[in-house]
Amino acid sequence: MKRSTRFLVLMTCSLLINTLSIIAQKNSPYLKDKELLKTIEKNFADAAAQYKLMAQHLPAEKFPKTFFPATGEYEFSNSGWWCSGFYPGTLLYLYEQTKDRALYTEAERILQVLEKEKNNTSTHDLGFMMFCSFGNANRIAAKPAYKDILLTSAKSLCTRFNPKTGCIKSWDSKAGDFLVIIDNMMNLELLFWATKVSGDSSFYKIAVTHANTTIKNHFRDDNSSYHVLNYDPERGAVKQKRTAQGAADESAWARGQAWGLYGYTATYRETKDPVYLEQAIKIADFMFTHPSLPADGIPYWDFNAPGIPDALRDASAAAITASALIELSGYTQNKDDAHHYLKLSETILKTLSGPLYKAAPGKNGGFLIQHGVGHMPNKTEVDVPLTYADYYFIEAMIRYKKPGTPAK
Ligand code: GLY
Repeated sequence: MKRSTRFLVLMTCSLLINTLSIIAQKNSPYLKDKELLKTIEKNFADAAAQYKLMAQHLPAEKFPKTFFPATGEYEFSNSGWWCSGFYPGTLLYLYEQTKDRALYTEAERILQVLEKEKNNTSTHDLGFMMFCSFGNANRIAAKPAYKDILLTSAKSLCTRFNPKTGCIKSWDSKAGDFLVIIDNMMNLELLFWATKVSGDSSFYKIAVTHANTTIKNHFRDDNSSYHVLNYDPERGAVKQKRTAQGAADESAWARGQAWGLYGYTATYRETKDPVYLEQAIKIADFMFTHPSLPADGIPYWDFNAPGIPDALRDASAAAITASALIELSGYTQNKDDAHHYLKLSETILKTLSGPLYKAAPGKNGGFLIQHGVGHMPNKTEVDVPLTYADYYFIEAMIRYKKPGTPAK
């Protein structure tokens, strides 16, 4: 055999082996828990019925925020609330799973109400708001109008980047402060997308700079993260490390850990830089070796919450974590680690599908998941349904059912 032919054969074999190993990983026995797959199909159908019920209660121009089962009252929001993208995003995910056209029609209606936020430069939450909504809408049925909305949103988000701090500003505050929260990692996907479709690398550079600065400053030695960092906007130095939604400045707020895990997994997906994969693995290790994490996989609202084991759990942190773990399992080189992450996500999905967390049909105001904690120190949205718990739970089930989807 000629040398060049041999090389070609070797390359083809190696490509084949790689492809087979990817397929093997995707078809891992851990993905074939038939009972869970059946439960997932039922959850999609139940969620679709719940969301159709919720839609009936929604005032025009308003977005669901939460529901208080004790009084039967809803709390709604305007389009500027950081969660406004989750309702359309959930409708779109459920439409894909059920093919129920009514869900798509409702998503299209509410997207029109949301569109104006593309020009909102007063929040860092545009990734949540616009990418979970219009990003999914564009993925399902691409339209030039959606692309424009998403690119305008990405440009609005970039106005909050400060090269001195190397970060996107999360919250506006008094002059001399520059507040960045770990949650901000979730808004970077929109910027990666913007570079892919526009060819303008400035979005990508801002996202990567923000991710690098956050690795440098936001994490403790045990790989847990602070919630809020206050930078000097002129010199870039960190002035304070504290919390807003956690139990204490030095505690590990559960949803913050989940945002970090998801954010760095997504950043690895978009960059293929192993630094981000390592960071995601470190965060997962922190969470899943923590002595306060219950065996059912649903964390207390803060890993250091006062009153554990009687403290409240946060189903939203669990849902975000499950979705991130499934994606992470597809990137880890070590097969045992991949299976480990899938097993952990299975535990969470099974617990959230049980009667303690999944609402009975027609209950919970049409939300699917119960027992989320929004802002404990503020005493707001405590032990209630939350739009993002539903969104990430449904996303996690989609990912579990078919790894690699929904394609981002
Ligand atoms: N980004 C706000 C929260 O997680 O509550």
